[in-house]
Amino acid sequence: MPILSAKGVTHLYNKGTPSQSKAIYDINVDIEEGELVGVIGHTGSGKSTLVQHFNGILKPDEGQIIVDGKDIWADKKSTREARFKVGLCFQYPEYQLFEETVYKDISFGPKNMGLSEDEIEKRVLLAAEYVGLKKELLEKSPFDLSGGEKRRAAIAGVIAMQPKVLILDEPTAGLDPKGRDKILDMIKSYREKTGSTVLLVSHSMEDVAKIATKVLVMNDSRVEMYGTVDEVYSHSEELRKIGLNIPQVSKIFELLKQNGCDLGSAYTVERAVELILARGGVGV
Ligand SMILES: Nc1ncnc2c1ncn2[C@@H]1O[C@H](COP(=O)(O)OP(=O)(O)O)[C@@H](O)[C@H]1O
Ligand SMILES: [Mg+2]
Repeated sequence: MPILSAKGVTHLYNKGTPSQSKAIYDINVDIEEGELVGVIGHTGSGKSTLVQHFNGILKPDEGQIIVDGKDIWADKKSTREARFKVGLCFQYPEYQLFEETVYKDISFGPKNMGLSEDEIEKRVLLAAEYVGLKKELLEKSPFDLSGGEKRRAAIAGVIAMQPKVLILDEPTAGLDPKGRDKILDMIKSYREKTGSTVLLVSHSMEDVAKIATKVLVMNDSRVEMYGTVDEVYSHSEELRKIGLNIPQVSKIFELLKQNGCDLGSAYTVERAVELILARGGVGV
């Protein structure tokens, strides 16, 4: 049984007004437990609108969202359950930090769940560890943290609810390459350690290739493709047509292949290095 499903989901913004528009249309997708799904697509393709349906922030105008076998809009209890089972971290989540200390910010979600102080403390410490925030930062004001630390503190706040599904909307946006890699490594190891399902919305096809097990491609309010990284990225021409560029290193490998040097397919620099070395390095 999939952990998340969208069945014929359509969402309209500005319903009933002249500017009414379909942000997502007839979305059908099943996401299996334990996958790390990269959600990609050009700006405005519907990525954020789709993921906000999975924890009930947005309600479908048509169709159903099923979490763990239950329609999340069947009754109030199911909607509330979905909010805890599916943790959503918005784009630029650091703007939502508002408490006096980082500790209080991370504990906000677990507190809402009505957990005991002991349990809350355990979860805050564990979440801080997952995102690589040192313990001494917890008593600081969130406003004294660096940009990357703020981002990680905000993500820890969602992780502390220990959701079955963690959704991160563009978690590396605006960070420098070092900050970006830290977040990606963190997401990868979080999933490995907890076995949680993770959805990572990203506009970087290389970032997605680094850590995702599956890729969901959105285009013009619809799901264009859903499959493994290899299955999806091998359609480079179709991807290009919908404004998605496969990573530069993949293009180089395609060109090499067209010129008689088939090294296989590489979607990350690390993979490219492995393939070249396997061929005996220089002189291939
Ligand atoms: N709050 C909103 N009100 C009206 N239209 C919106 C709103 N949010 C998004 N949209 C529109 O819905 C479509 C999908 O947007 P979005 O889900 O944000 O895409 P993405 O995350 O892929 O950039 C776009 O055409 C966008 O302009
Ligand atoms: Mg978005």
